[in-house]
Amino acid sequence: MARVRPMLDGVSETLLWTFYNRAYEAGRRYPVLDDPMALQLLADLDYPFEERFGLPGPFSSQAQGLRSRCFDLAVQAYLADRPEATVVALGDGLETGFWRVDNGRLNWLSVELPEVATLRRTLLPPSDRLRTLSGSATGLSWLDEIEDPVGRGVVVTAQGLLMYLRPAEVRKVIAACAERLPGGVFVLDSMSRWLARGTVAGTSKVGDMTVPPMRWAMNPGERRKLRGAHPGITQVRALRLPRGRGAMGELIRVQSLLPGLRTLTPAVTQLRFGG
Ligand SMILES: C[S@@+](CC[C@H](N)C(=O)[O-])C[C@H]1O[C@@H](n2cnc3c(N)ncnc32)[C@H](O)[C@@H]1O
Repeated sequence: MARVRPMLDGVSETLLWTFYNRAYEAGRRYPVLDDPMALQLLADLDYPFEERFGLPGPFSSQAQGLRSRCFDLAVQAYLADRPEATVVALGDGLETGFWRVDNGRLNWLSVELPEVATLRRTLLPPSDRLRTLSGSATGLSWLDEIEDPVGRGVVVTAQGLLMYLRPAEVRKVIAACAERLPGGVFVLDSMSRWLARGTVAGTSKVGDMTVPPMRWAMNPGERRKLRGAHPGITQVRALRLPRGRGAMGELIRVQSLLPGLRTLTPAVTQLRFGG
């Protein structure tokens, strides 16, 4: 296959940065994320990653790997009870979670903006249990595409997405899931307010890329407020990053547990919907 050159900007370009960090981590010795599909994708893409974003630092690549691993563990825990559940990955970018957690029975729906949906379809191998829907997560029509959500169960993930939406949109997406997906869970990550502030001011950069404004932010201590989005939310739970590799892994874990607001990694939260 000829190598593919992604032409993305704005929020969509950020997927290349998270992907690059994950793939870089997957290529290390003793990676925290076992992800051969990400390494294959890295080879298939024609993109000046290092020039655009700089070489991933030991903190950011391992932290991205641990964040994905944290999402994987939450999905796998749900699948242990409901192996035929649908996993809906909102803003899935070039995530390869389907291949990391596939149990041979789940269904996976990626929901992405049109240019990214096209890129996924071009680059990733097809499966009859994997679909990529083109459209905005905030449009909610993807909810109609989930087969037997109550019988089979649903895990919705939003990794690296909600911070780029407006607060009212975040509330709308969560409330709609709580209303329509009883028995399901929603796994999300959030940036602390101080980190988001720099992005809104336009002063936050990763290599040459200016980080797009993160309009929704939440300090870890504010998690319980999410319950107010809908009465169907029966549990709000902090998910801890798994243990990483070496001294850097320990540093990442310890800073993510600090009670202060200046943590450098996004906080991961799981919402459970009753019913
Ligand atoms: C930081 S990237 C995260 C990608 C992937 N989840 C990951 O962790 O690598 C943000 C992603 O959100 C997607 N996105 C932004 N707004 C969206 C929307 N309204 N609906 C669906 N996807 C959206 C972008 O295209 C991009 O892929």
